[in-house]
Order: sequence, then structure tokens, then C-alpha cells
Amino acid sequence: MKKVKRLGFVGWRGMVGSVLLGRMQEEGDLDYVEELVLYSTSQAGQPGPELANTQPLLADAMDLDSLSTLDVIISCQGGDYTQKVYAPLRDMGWQGYWLDAASTLRMNNSSTIILDPLNQSIIKENLANGQRDFIGGNCTVSLMLMALHGLFKENLVEWITAMTYQAISGGGAQQMRELLIQMGEIHEHATPLLRLQESSILDIDSRINEYLNSDALTTGTIGYPLANNLLPWIDIDLDNGTSREEWKGHAETNKILGREDNPIPIESTCVRVGTFRCHSQAFTIALSQDVGVDDLTDIIEQANQWVKVIPNNRQNTLQSLTPVAVSGSMDIAVGKIRKTAFNSKIMTIFTVGDQLLWGAAEPLRRMLGILAERS
Ligand code: HSE
Repeated sequence: MKKVKRLGFVGWRGMVGSVLLGRMQEEGDLDYVEELVLYSTSQAGQPGPELANTQPLLADAMDLDSLSTLDVIISCQGGDYTQKVYAPLRDMGWQGYWLDAASTLRMNNSSTIILDPLNQSIIKENLANGQRDFIGGNCTVSLMLMALHGLFKENLVEWITAMTYQAISGGGAQQMRELLIQMGEIHEHATPLLRLQESSILDIDSRINEYLNSDALTTGTIGYPLANNLLPWIDIDLDNGTSREEWKGHAETNKILGREDNPIPIESTCVRVGTFRCHSQAFTIALSQDVGVDDLTDIIEQANQWVKVIPNNRQNTLQSLTPVAVSGSMDIAVGKIRKTAFNSKIMTIFTVGDQLLWGAAEPLRRMLGILAERS
């Protein structure tokens, strides 16, 4: 078996990093790594977890000399870390492969956005051309592409609108905790009235709404109430009426597909909802040809092994096309496949995927496999 010689992993203790490390262990990826060095920004020198082929003590994630001895670096440490370390490391002449979950380097010409079930040929071509930066896509984008893979493969997409329902895990572990705190606070606030059999639901509603509009609810991390609410803005304001998250839908998708010169128009409205770790999306898609629903379903289902088509009826949809059903699994659930009343070339689809798996960790893990194959 071919091997990656020295792999460094930064941010392995965080949410995405620990999901990634867990997946690497599950899939036996460490067998093709000769030596793994776990880095830490705060606990260098302390013992790390006992893993195969892994140095016992944590290395210093800010030590450029140490990082420059690595053949591959995986960073799940976040954009600030990439901003601090990446350029100085390259300036030292480091020639290794940089695999990153953060968006910092994604749109650089020297970066490839990795989603190998869709763009393995682009990844391999860019590798052959000497590219060394391979960056995971935005979670919503990767999950959309996995779901609609077949339609892109068959060149059936003219344009897309995406309405997203994005889980709080996309905002990080602290925001997940805060959502639970908010839920608890709201419940606690409603409890005296809930316990009174004769209390009116309108009284409960106005008590909760008043509470949500006061400063009493904990909002220090998310910034706003998310429990009992939704937030139709994710990431920064681009000052043109759209969020950066919405911009990514078009820009990253077309980069992943290698269609920057002939982009598929994609418009998104991105919304944070109070689910935990699955992003859901509703698409309206204009097809380039009038293909029947059964054929479309086959095309979507057969595109990759992770797509799981959910029959378009009430029971199957409510049972299987939900964040609760999909959370923690590699499945990309795709359902509500139907033609619209607008015309027979406009269809709708709803999809749910785990934001931490295909949305973040899995493309990086698979890229390591591609690097191992060719080393
Ligand atoms: N930007 C995403 C979100 C995170 O906030 O849900 C995953 O890339």
C-alpha cells in the first residue's frame, strides 16, 4: 500500500476535526500514514491520544520549523489559523500539501475545492499540474452538489434557486451549546404557565415572545434568539443585499465543477434554523431538457452511492427526509422530486445531509486517500 509519510493534523480536537479523526479511525486511514503528528495551539508538549503511528506528545501548531517537516497538513483549526500560518510557511519554501476545512484559501487560483465524487478529474489534473492547496467546500455547497450530482453529470441544469435551512453546527460548537441553553431558558420561562391547566396558549405565546425580545435570553454567541426563531442571514454582509453564504452557492459550485467560464446561475437564500447538525435545502431547478420524473429520479439515485432517494409521499418524507433521520449518517437524503406547475422543465427537490460529514470532514479524509495513492 502507498503511504503518506508525515501527516500533521491541526484542530483535531474541535468539532469538525474530531469528526474527521473519528472517520479516519473508522476507515483505517491511519494505516496509510507512516507518521501522524498531532498539533495543538495551546497544549504543545502534553501527551496526545494513543493512536496508531502517532507521536505521543502534541506538537506546537505555531512552530513553522516543525510544520515545514510535514508532507501533508490537515487544518480544521479555522480561518484565523490559516491566515496566520499558511503564507509564512509557504514563504519558507514549504512544498507540502495543505488540506483545509476553512474558507480562507478556497477561491484562490492556486487552490482546488475538493469534492472528489464530483470533481476527481479536476483534483487529479491540478495535482499533476503541481497544485498543493486542497480545500473543503462550504458545507451547503458540498451537500447540494452531492444531492444533485446526477443532474450535473447529465448536464441537465440550467439554473437553480436554493432555499437553505442550515443547522447551528455550521456556526460551531459554542453556538450549538447556546441553542440548547436558549431552549432551556425558554422552557423554564414558560413552565409556570404550562403547569396551569387553565392557562391560555396565547398567554404563553406572548410571555415567550416578550422574553425573546428582551435582553434576558442568552445570546452572547449566536447574537440573536435562534430557539423559537430563524435567522435569514449567514456569514458576512456583502453590502449588495446578499450574504457571503449566498454568494458561495454560485461561486464555489462553479469552481468545483470547473465551470467558472460558463457558470450555472445559482441564487440562494440562506437561513439558519434551530436544528443541530444537518443542513436541509429546497431547490427549484430549471432543466435544460424535459426529462420525466422517473428518469430524473434514476439519474439522481445512481449518481453516487450516498444519495438515498426518499419516495415522495407524506409518510416517507416525514420519516426519512429530516435532519433527525439523517444526522450522523453518510446518507444524502433526496426527496420531494417533482415537476412544478410552472412548466415541465422546472422541478423541485428537497435534500438533507450531515453538515459535519459530507459537509466538512469527508472530502478532506478522501483527499488524503488520493494523496496516499500517488505518493
Ligand atoms: N458556513 C456554514 C454554515 C458552515 O454556517 O452553516 C459550513 O461551511
